[in-house]
Amino acid sequence: MTKISVIGAGNVGATTVQRLAEMEFGNIVLVDIVEGLPQGKALDLMQAGSIVGYDTKIKGSNDYADIVDSDIVIITAGAARKPGMSRADLININTKIMKDVCEKIKQYAPKSIVIAVTNPLDVMTYVALKVTGFEPNRVFGMSGILDTGRFASFIADELACSKRDVEAMVIGGHGDQMLPLPQHSSVFGTPLPELLGENVIAGLVERTIHGGAEIVALLKQGSAFYAPSAAIVQMVESILRDEKRILPVSAYLEGEYGQKGIYFGVPAKIGCDGIEGIIELELTEEQKQALKESSASIKGSIEYLNI
Ligand code: APR
Repeated sequence: MTKISVIGAGNVGATTVQRLAEMEFGNIVLVDIVEGLPQGKALDLMQAGSIVGYDTKIKGSNDYADIVDSDIVIITAGAARKPGMSRADLININTKIMKDVCEKIKQYAPKSIVIAVTNPLDVMTYVALKVTGFEPNRVFGMSGILDTGRFASFIADELACSKRDVEAMVIGGHGDQMLPLPQHSSVFGTPLPELLGENVIAGLVERTIHGGAEIVALLKQGSAFYAPSAAIVQMVESILRDEKRILPVSAYLEGEYGQKGIYFGVPAKIGCDGIEGIIELELTEEQKQALKESSASIKGSIEYLNI
């Protein structure tokens, strides 16, 4: 039986467990350091099964030994942003948490595929790679599906069309320097620049880049979790069903896009072995330059951490 562990029973973690349970992918373990929190949420989600109609077994725990032999471990442990904070502001507090969590994953689930969600995402995924010592294809981060989902949602609203017919693309770091790519975004095959004016597209791009902050400002405490959890589940589904979907994720680059030794948002083929290939898109000179700037800030954070 497939076993999925979710670390962190907060908004993102618990909502992810809800979605995974409804999909009946396998048994789930939900771990948090707060006593009673994962147990209570697991019990509630188990009871929801008899109403919604799923038999997924969900165990809440404060003991990392319970993640033993997990096939997939999803890390959502960590602090979320408060209004006015950038994702980068979380670096010190979340690095410490990430290190603790990844030591445990290395110990109890050495064969797992790790999906990092904690922010600042690209840097935290790098910490996960270094601490677990796993191969890079088994450690990657959830970012691009969320950013792409936001872009697609704004495009669909603007064109008054179904979100299902929109293909959007966002690459680069999961922060203010992410790079939505209008020429690689389309509606039922028609590229976005043929459908909308430059200024309108620029507005949608800007809103996408600040899409997370817009929600943080509205919520006043905590950050987004419905779309992030949906993005995580799409990655899990592609792994467990070996779908080999091309999904934008934070992947370890070894020369692709001119980058080496960092995690960066790029389209990748996701299957049973995790990342099975990275797709390199054609970019304009301006976009190449923007990518360089985006990668420089991730490199700066990695140097700062000195891991
Ligand atoms: N081990 C397990 N759980 C931990 C640990 C740890 N070492 N440290 C903190 N946690 C738990 C907290 O107790 C809390 O329940 O992580 C949970 C985080 O939940 P929320 O505060 O609700 O945050 P959430 O919105 O779920 O976001 C989590 O994902 O999207 C990112 O920026 C976001 O970094 C943040 C993370």
